Amino acid sequence: MTDSVKGRLHVVVLAAGKGTRMRSATPKVLHEIAGRSMLAHCLDTAEALEPASIRVVIGHEGEAVRESQAGRDVQWVWQHEQNGTGHAVQLGIEGLEAEANDRVLVLYADVPLLGAETLGDLAATEAVVSLLTVHMDDPTGYGRILRDTDGSVRRIVEQKDASEAERQVQEVNTGILMARYGDLVTWLDSLEAGNAQGELYLTDIVEMAANEDKPVDAVIAEDAWEVTGVNDRLALARLERIYQERQAEALALAGTTVVDPARLDVRGMLDCGMDVSIDVGCVFEGDVRLGDNVWIGPHCVLRDCEIGPNSVVEAFSHIDGVVTAGDNAIGPYARLRPGAALDSAAKVGNFVEIKAARIGERSKVNHLSYVGDARVGDDCNLGAGTITCNYDGSNKHHTEIGDRVFVGSSTQLVAPVTVGSDATIGAGSTITRDVGEGRLAVARSRQTEIDGWRRPRKKRD
Ligand code: UD1
Ligand code: CA
Repeated sequence: MTDSVKGRLHVVVLAAGKGTRMRSATPKVLHEIAGRSMLAHCLDTAEALEPASIRVVIGHEGEAVRESQAGRDVQWVWQHEQNGTGHAVQLGIEGLEAEANDRVLVLYADVPLLGAETLGDLAATEAVVSLLTVHMDDPTGYGRILRDTDGSVRRIVEQKDASEAERQVQEVNTGILMARYGDLVTWLDSLEAGNAQGELYLTDIVEMAANEDKPVDAVIAEDAWEVTGVNDRLALARLERIYQERQAEALALAGTTVVDPARLDVRGMLDCGMDVSIDVGCVFEGDVRLGDNVWIGPHCVLRDCEIGPNSVVEAFSHIDGVVTAGDNAIGPYARLRPGAALDSAAKVGNFVEIKAARIGERSKVNHLSYVGDARVGDDCNLGAGTITCNYDGSNKHHTEIGDRVFVGSSTQLVAPVTVGSDATIGAGSTITRDVGEGRLAVARSRQTEIDGWRRPRKKRD
């Protein structure tokens, strides 16, 4: 944002706190919502405002926090001792290349669901100080917003410093605020720690502004969840459910059948064509695209894949790094691993694992098979228990199967090996040499019957 009247926008993200109540070796802001750290959510939202700069104040486990966002265009500021939010912002704006009329927006990295829209409303205000507040049924623990009789914001009082009467106020400080840089610098310089917690309170700048008759604005957030900070794993889990339900609602309203919006998890991007249906308990990770009329059965996990139109994925299938062309039938209990590709109308049935292998049009691998590092042509049938032996203990080898090949059940194809088109392989074969086009290969010991054989009997004495 480079509005000349209001100056440029600078963002300071507070992320130095310890997060003791998470009871975790992982720094709090690296705990995840929908598969992304809270810090990543916060920075995404900040970036959406296109600010002139973003700084993140780090302290506890700061090295890990910084490394988690490697490659992001942000500056890192250390706060080795957490002397309060005012202290954190002091450090956060130290040496900032800003002009008096620029604005500084303070965000908390542990408030992951704050939406770009609400934040946009705050960023659009033109007061010298703008607060994001919210009404809470139970405001315990939060700083209370104290207003004059004319409704203007007068100051913020922390829970621990508040009188009984002040504690009755239900409008609370979310902690997120924006202030004019020139004034902020001055006010931060004059902060004092004469309060119940012996800290430098950022919130004290509100009273300073009011005393100078500088306008203080408050944007009231509609939903408490949007500005809820995470202090423990229960809060994290609750926000996760809210986030997921909202995604499910958006999908449903965009035309996808979500059998139960409370039982869907999308950790990344899910793009659905027309008339897609998703049964309960599915998890989508990374970038997933489902074509028109795709039906996903219950309890499937799909990661970074593209399922072609009119395909059916039956229950308990696991699909990762896969592209299917369409009209495919997959599962139940199929496992498609990275590099698997199904051509149009190919079928993969129960307890089948496919890895780095392409299955041709209309070909079927219906039961209990492993196909890895292979190319299977069109119109093939791989019987139950077909195994490509692709690994010799050191290296992986390729199996090439032509078109219209019939592989009998319980066949091992010892790679590298090629089976020509129209070949047939007898059940129970261990194929170690190439099979020619149209040939029948049988590689198993012949069945014999032994004349005069008798079953041994128990000795008696
Ligand atoms: C703060 C606000 C309070 C508000 C509440 C909302 C102040 C004085 N109080 O209180 O009005 O209702 O947030 O949750 O601002 N942090 C640092 N360095 C520090 C201190 C904090 O980086 O020295 C970070 C924390 O990691 C956290 C955020 O700032 O992300 C808020 O700190 P926290 O201690 O939770 O503030 P509260 O006391 O809850
Ligand atoms: Ca807090």
